[in-house]
Amino acid sequence: QQLVIPRRASTPPVVFHWLPFVGSAIAYGNDPLKFLFQCREKYGDVFTFILLGRRITVALGPKGNNFVLGGKSVVFNAEDAYAPFTTPVFGKDVVYDVPNEKFMEQKRFIKAGLSTSNLRAYVGMIEQEVNDVFAKDPTFNQPAPTSALPTPPPTPASKNGAKWDGQFDAVKTMQEITILTASRTLQGKEVRENMDKGYAKLYNDLDGGFTPVHMMFPYLPLESSRKRDRAQKKMSQFYMDIIRGRAENGSVSDGEDGHDMIATLLEQQYRSGESLKEHEIANMMIVLLMAGQHTSSATGSWALLHLANNPDVAEALYKEQAQHFGNIDSDGKTNLRPMTLEELRALPVLDSVIRETLRMHPPIHCIMRYVREDVLVQPNFNGTNSDGSYVIPKGHYVMASPVISQMDPAIWKSPQKWDLTRWSDPQGVAAQAFKEYLDENGERVDFGFGKVSKGTESPYQPFGAGKHRCIGEQFAYLQLGTILATVVRNVELWIEKIPEPDYHPLPFFFVQTLITMPKEPRMVSYRRRK
Ligand code: HEM
Repeated sequence: QQLVIPRRASTPPVVFHWLPFVGSAIAYGNDPLKFLFQCREKYGDVFTFILLGRRITVALGPKGNNFVLGGKSVVFNAEDAYAPFTTPVFGKDVVYDVPNEKFMEQKRFIKAGLSTSNLRAYVGMIEQEVNDVFAKDPTFNQPAPTSALPTPPPTPASKNGAKWDGQFDAVKTMQEITILTASRTLQGKEVRENMDKGYAKLYNDLDGGFTPVHMMFPYLPLESSRKRDRAQKKMSQFYMDIIRGRAENGSVSDGEDGHDMIATLLEQQYRSGESLKEHEIANMMIVLLMAGQHTSSATGSWALLHLANNPDVAEALYKEQAQHFGNIDSDGKTNLRPMTLEELRALPVLDSVIRETLRMHPPIHCIMRYVREDVLVQPNFNGTNSDGSYVIPKGHYVMASPVISQMDPAIWKSPQKWDLTRWSDPQGVAAQAFKEYLDENGERVDFGFGKVSKGTESPYQPFGAGKHRCIGEQFAYLQLGTILATVVRNVELWIEKIPEPDYHPLPFFFVQTLITMPKEPRMVSYRRRK
């Protein structure tokens, strides 16, 4: 239905603030969830707040998600919102630096690289990387704990009364494991081999130019921006050298197995018949690195922390592994064989661990678009041109916040509780958010490991929705699932308390990532399984 914008339509209510340019930056920056929930109480599902000079109109709830994420890209535009701070990191001619139609073709190429046969090959590689980490040093040279390690709690994890072997920082260890496993699989052999020889440094410099301050003020002449620009050039060149090296060897593959993304991208063509240029492939590889690293490592860290805080669940996860992959030898020892993609997809405990972690801690809590044309919105999204309509003027940003519907007590029972059982209740909201995976009796057919509702109006959207929905979801599930399963195969874990989320308010604004991480301390005690 075409809505006519009344001449006297008012704009949405503006959140009260004292400082004109700063607006609500401090309240939003300190705790976006608290801020958005409080504003919703006062102003309803649609309101505007000022964020360092920008006017952001928020649309909350599943209908608000639908309004923003289901909007047409000529009206609610991602490139205008993201290109200024992503292009210096990703490089030219990819993603938000090209017209949307071209980016959609590039997304199709990436999808081709995430084929089932490639994903299948990745499971064993990830398992091997994680096993290596636990065989050597899961602390990655972090200093040993200065105080005595805690006494094991009276949980399944402590029944043999053994001592803890040590502690590691959940985030630092997960960051290392994530980059090692992503480089071994998607990024290819050459990247994995260069991890200790300069690649990690380039990644850190690039990442240092991808913080909230770069997002809000992309043109400030900061040292971190200069380092980022140098790293972007070098990283792009590094990938182009890989491509040339492979061409000299007469093969698209890394010589090992040909399952990495570079091999796929070398074989793709735009609809015009053109192949991808070397620098486009190089920059797309940077996009994949940056899009997957913080999101997956943050999710993995939160999952690990919850498992350490809930040893009963960790034990259930271990038992699920033992049931599917184990056999008990003559000494009574459980031996676990390697996992396969198909088997991983049929593990309900593992699936719910990832799902529930993404519900409480979606790494991307708010999604923005730039408003290119005046748009009419009703405070209750009822689609009629009623008197109470607001106009969102061109030049505003619109924001959806999937985490608000994922943590809404009006939708979920005890949303603050990390509770896997909500995913096995066929009548629960969780299952209803995945209606397409329920049969006619409302029984769960197959949530499908890593499959979530594709609808733009869902109460559960950790991977976004609509045109810009994540394409890394299947890979992320596979990577996280294999990592977590392999971790519990190797060790028992324990932490007394789940850390609070860190939204990186000032002054960390200048150095931190855009992703919500657990606050320090987040040291997890571990004990190798015998
Ligand atoms: C987009 C979440 C992992 C590649 C997105 C969006 C979300 C998201 C919410 C939508 C952004 C928007 O609409 O503006 C996640 C989460 C991940 C994850 C929670 C892990 C747990 C990955 C991985 C890759 C990836 C591993 C690559 C291999 C992308 C790309 C886009 C995207 C390329 C851009 C899509 C577009 O603008 O059209 N992701 N992501 N993501 N994601 Fe992911």
